[in-house]
Amino acid sequence: MGRNFILLGPPGSGKGTQAAMLAGSLNLLHISTGEILRGEIAKDSKLGRQAAVYMDKGDLVPDEVVFEIVEHVLGTNRKAGAVLDGFPRTRRQAEMLCEHEIAIEKVIYISVPDEEIVRRLSKRHYCEKCNKVVTYDDEFCLVCHSPMTVRADDKPDVIRKRLQVYHELTEPLIAFYKEEGCLAKVNGVGTVAEINRRMLATLDNSDENKGGGIDNT
Ligand code: AP5
Ligand code: MG
Repeated sequence: MGRNFILLGPPGSGKGTQAAMLAGSLNLLHISTGEILRGEIAKDSKLGRQAAVYMDKGDLVPDEVVFEIVEHVLGTNRKAGAVLDGFPRTRRQAEMLCEHEIAIEKVIYISVPDEEIVRRLSKRHYCEKCNKVVTYDDEFCLVCHSPMTVRADDKPDVIRKRLQVYHELTEPLIAFYKEEGCLAKVNGVGTVAEINRRMLATLDNSDENKGGGIDNT
């Protein structure tokens, strides 16, 4: 079985940005449950229509639905190993991973204050065509030059709801994984490159890499 990592953090903390980089450098799959669900919504599938009811309000999609998606993707790529972005998000989802004996090497918690989250998400634009290109303020995609768009759940009231849901249901996982002994906390404020270096340093326990924004407490 491959190496599996979890990126845990509030909405807009940079999970997607950093997961893509980490998966690229470690040659792992990048599994974003949010992106998979948005893909289903774009296809107008039954699953997508069900998920949109929750996502548009900033609520979580039911645990069983999300777990089925993760199990399917992981199950068909069991040996590859993955960076899980935005999963698990509830205590039940974390337990489901344990029950299915999906071993997690490290949980990297990206810490970003709420006010920075609101600032980032209210400025976010993305390209529907390239999907993963997420950038600030640009009118056209830097890759395919299509017009940029705003995510359906990046409206101010929905951002607030997502943050509230995060604090209530997902934040308790920090203590859960700390107790499991696999949590590393990374300061998520800084440049994308700085945070990437902090993340990689959590995977390398050599003395020279201790510090630099890492907090294992
Ligand atoms: P999901 O898609 O996972 O959204 P999220 O957790 O709210 O997080 P985001 O994708 O908004 O942010 P991110 O942390 O990936 O940050 P990003 O890199 O984009 O989930 C959406 C919905 O799907 C949920 O609300 C729920 O309904 C459902 N769902 C998904 N998973 C589920 C699950 N497991 N269970 C139940 N329901 C589930 O960066 C954000 C912005 O900041 C970007 O503009 C980026 O360019 C910018 N940025 C990135 N890094 C930096 C930096 N260092 N400095 C400044 N800006 C930065
Ligand atoms: Mg994301």
